[in-house]
Amino acid sequence: MINFRENPIGVFDSGIGGLTVFKELIKILPRENIIYFGDTARVPYGTKSEKTIRDYSIQNAKFLLSKNVKAIVIACNTSSAIALEEIQSITNLPVVGVIKPGSIAAVNSTKNKRIAVIGTTATISSKSYEKEIKCLDSSIEVYGKACPLFVPIVEEGWANHKIAYLAAEEYLSELKKHSIDTLVLGCTHYPLLRNTIQKVIGENVQLIDSGIETAQVVKKILEENDFLNRSELKPDYKFYVSDLPLQFKKVGEMFLERSIENLIKIDI
Ligand code: DGL
Repeated sequence: MINFRENPIGVFDSGIGGLTVFKELIKILPRENIIYFGDTARVPYGTKSEKTIRDYSIQNAKFLLSKNVKAIVIACNTSSAIALEEIQSITNLPVVGVIKPGSIAAVNSTKNKRIAVIGTTATISSKSYEKEIKCLDSSIEVYGKACPLFVPIVEEGWANHKIAYLAAEEYLSELKKHSIDTLVLGCTHYPLLRNTIQKVIGENVQLIDSGIETAQVVKKILEENDFLNRSELKPDYKFYVSDLPLQFKKVGEMFLERSIENLIKIDI
């Protein structure tokens, strides 16, 4: 019988963005098998209604559960903001979202208690970050800004293109007026735009990548549950997508700096 600890961690996002979380997971959990699902047929989620985001997110989680995962990582801020509790209610396995870990990191980082959060329209409208941050420290000012064009720019492979720079200037200029010292990249696509965002917002603003924090939380939960994979075998990574855009492999490989084998298209 296969050891439960060798079962994969399941990770999903609406597209390519969750690879930023995958990259952190394989760094700090190098023995874990991972299944990644990118809902490339239905990306973006961030401009859709709550009901649609919830339905898609639950379908994605059910797909991962059908692959016998031992934990689910919602590597999508939009899904984490809207569907974390519902997904937790359909399984007894650990389900980790990205909002709480990112909020804790932001609160630990700010000195002047002025934090901005950028994300998709759905994430910003949900005020999930604001609620979480205020819950940790009610004296912190939180400024939210939706940046809906960032996701298609990343999916197009234009993270370092002048179009990305122009969009960042347009979106971030208003945040600069608030003298923030910390900016949460509240969408898993945004770490791919990190250089551009840092240039526009200024070097003195600390950028928070919730993927890094989330990977730490996943490690801790696996340790606490005694779920860590102890096998010495090379880990197995499988990538599933709901559509097969050429960009997924190209942009994904460029970002991960490794080849994406085992890319399988499924009907969700
Ligand atoms: N990467 C996702 C997030 O973190 C969503 C992008 C989208 O599909 O709109 O919110």
